[in-house]
This record gives sequence, C-alpha cells and structure tokens, in this order.
Amino acid sequence: MKRKVLITRGVFPEIVEALAQRFEVEHNPEDRPLPPEELARRLEGKHGAMATVMDRFDEPLLARSPELRVISNIAVGYNNIDIAACSKRGIRVTNTPGVLDDTTADLTWALLMAAARRVAEADAYVRAGEWKVAFGVRYFLGQDVYHATLGIIGMGRIGQAIARRAAGFDMRVLYNNRNRLAEADERRLGAVYVERDRLFAESDFVVVMAPYSAATHHLVGAAEIAKMKPTAILVNTARGGVVDDAALVYALKHKRIAGAGLDVFEGEPALDRGYLELPNVVLTPHIGSASAATRMTMCRLAADNLTAVLEGRTPPNLVNA
Ligand code: GLV
Repeated sequence: MKRKVLITRGVFPEIVEALAQRFEVEHNPEDRPLPPEELARRLEGKHGAMATVMDRFDEPLLARSPELRVISNIAVGYNNIDIAACSKRGIRVTNTPGVLDDTTADLTWALLMAAARRVAEADAYVRAGEWKVAFGVRYFLGQDVYHATLGIIGMGRIGQAIARRAAGFDMRVLYNNRNRLAEADERRLGAVYVERDRLFAESDFVVVMAPYSAATHHLVGAAEIAKMKPTAILVNTARGGVVDDAALVYALKHKRIAGAGLDVFEGEPALDRGYLELPNVVLTPHIGSASAATRMTMCRLAADNLTAVLEGRTPPNLVNA
C-alpha cells in the first residue's frame, strides 16, 4: 500500500507529480498556511509531511499523527518544528541547506543597497507624481556602501556568501559568530572577528544572519541599537524575533539609526504596524530564497529528503540524527 504524504502548501506541479508516483499525496495547493486545527486534521494518518516555516509542529500536533515518520521542511531553518519531540517519537526532520545561500545573500544585498540609497522611498516619490524638479542637489541623500564597514552577525554559509559580495565594494568586514572561523577562512573572506559590542559600534551596515532560537531571541534590541552609529543601517534576512521589532520601530522613528531593510518579522505576516508609516525602512515579505531556480531546487531537495526517509534510506539533509 502506498504511504501517505501531506504537502502543506502550494508547490510546483512537477514536484507533486513526482511524489504522487510513489505516494498517496494530499496537497494544499493554496498559498494559505493551514490553520493549526486544519493542519492537525489533514496530517492524521499521514506518514510524511512536506512543510514550510509557517507550519508549526509541536507535541500536541505530533500526538495526533502517530504514523508520521518524516517532516521535510522546504527551508534551511526549522524553528517551526519541536525537534526534541520529533526525535522522541522517531520522526525524522529534514531541511534544505546549501542550495539557497547565494540567493539569500543576494536579497540581503538588495535590501542593504535599497535602504542605503533610499530606493523604495524614491520609487514611491516618483510614482506619486511628486518629482517636479528635474535634479535636486539634496534629493534623497543616502549612505555610501563602498569603502564602508559591514558587520555580519552569524557567519555560517549565508553570512559568508554575504561577506564575499562585500569585496566588490571594497568594504571592511567585521563578523561575530558563535564559533570563530578558521584563520584561513577569515583571510579568504577578508573578515575580522570582533565582539558584538564592537561590531555594533563600528559598522555602517549591520546584517543579521543568525538562526532563531531561545539564545538569539531579541539578539538585536534597544540596547544593541543604541550602540549603533546614527548613520547605520540594519538588515535582517534571517528570522523574525532575532530583532526586537518594537525597539527597531522606535529607533527608526526617532532616527536613532538611519534605516533598515527587513525580510522577516516577529509574528509575520502580521508585522508591527509601526513599520508601515516609516519611510526609512524597506520591507519585503520573507522572500530571501525566492528566485525561481532556487525555490524549485529547494522543493526538489525537500521531495528527495521525504522520499529517502519513507523508502528507508538516510536522507541527504537530516536535522535530527
Ligand atoms: C526560510 O526562511 C528558510 O529558512 O529557508
């Protein structure tokens, strides 16, 4: 008998078709996260789930799906899943690391550049028909990116991809990470390890690229923002909750720092409404890895991970050994 699989969100048709050749597939084709009760109901009797970071897998949900053997996240992060509870129940958890590093680094740079040079604000100005004088000497003055200091908090694969791009702008790169990199890697990246306080104080651009956990909750809050330069820009393409949104809204509103570029938010998509009134923040809806090619690769990898577990093989990207 075919094993049963739930795909919780709209994915590419070829992925659904490929999985349907091996498994009995139930697919939520919509771009609507399943509310917890509906997710629990549709998961009953399933052996595998292909899921997104919006789907919460906690102990009460797992208790209702005793047949579940694998949760395959279409994401590198997996803070939506109670890993310890899964391990206890023998449920394998997989993710999609590696394939999204450069795409996410690109979006990080897009936000950094947009915030530095006020691109979104200027675009809105032109569209609103407010551009009446051809050239203004003091129009939309922003921050230079080249030769500036970039501070990266979280120097894993994506952090390193962000650092590599800084070489093209002749930037000084500082970083902070749980573990210091090997000297050869620091040299290759041209990155200098510093304590977080120094990184906040000396950086013109602070990029957050740390995974969310209890240890990184509000890693950037009012105290850290207070250490930043008034001309500095904060970029978060990691996870909502690593930055304290209320503190950042306050700081942006009172020009304690110059701007921000944000792709992730606490409680997204219901972000702090304060952001919407601020011109000095560029907002994108959690699209860090959203290039057509990368999202397809992530879905393929997630399907491979799921298939491997259900066929009794070791998946390429097992999170809980
Ligand atoms: C997306 O947020 C991911 O973790 O890949």
